[in-house]
Amino acid sequence: MDIIVLSDRAWADEVAARWADRLAVNVDLRMCCPTGQTPVPLYTAMATLCDLGIADFGAATIVLLDEYLGLEPGASGRCDEMLRRHLVDRLRPAPAAVRTIGVGSLGPTDPDLEVEAAAIEAELVARPLDLALLGVGGNGHVGMNEPGSAPDSPTRIVELAASTRLAAASYGAEPVPTHGVTIGLRALLAAAEVWILATGSTKADVVAAIVDGPTTVEMPASLFRDHTNCTLFVDTAAWARRPPT
Ligand code: PGA
Repeated sequence: MDIIVLSDRAWADEVAARWADRLAVNVDLRMCCPTGQTPVPLYTAMATLCDLGIADFGAATIVLLDEYLGLEPGASGRCDEMLRRHLVDRLRPAPAAVRTIGVGSLGPTDPDLEVEAAAIEAELVARPLDLALLGVGGNGHVGMNEPGSAPDSPTRIVELAASTRLAAASYGAEPVPTHGVTIGLRALLAAAEVWILATGSTKADVVAAIVDGPTTVEMPASLFRDHTNCTLFVDTAAWARRPPT
């Protein structure tokens, strides 16, 4: 795992510039994108690069990383709505395709959702992601692959950890979801390139665990240490608890 430590002021612009470079080299880049707080400044920086003509998603595909279940279509706390507000609606030109999941879902027992998750998994096996952008939860989850998720776990319906439910509530997810659907670790670990994003002092402990702790399913983000092309982009606050070398 490569590690790039940036000042909090430079973090978003630097990651956005590298993302624009990937799009320039691979115009039909197919990437998954997370929601939550961490990527918001990155998405703002990326929208600016699009406005300046430096980045172009016109041939690219964005795949939503995960989604809460039990929220009405259009609810502002849904992941697809957050992604739309913070990124997709701000990109000019618009991305060639945006793949979401579970828009009409009735909840975790909806059989149609299982079919949809299996279809996305099959697509990701047939054509792995070029780039997986991932946030990391305070408990080490990536997407909604909570601690205990197997490295070969598929795209699937999952029960959310208590801390993930709290985070969902803080994003305005109403009713607070108990379950979600997430791209699984298998497809994320199969991506050609992975970027893990972590900023702020609240991520300092989990970053130290990812970098210095054991590689374990109890800390799903740590599994990416074995990925051949994974970069952890942190700011200085998120890097603060790392023991000096
Ligand atoms: P955050 O969430 O960016 O809001 O901290 C990250 C995550 O849970 O993946």
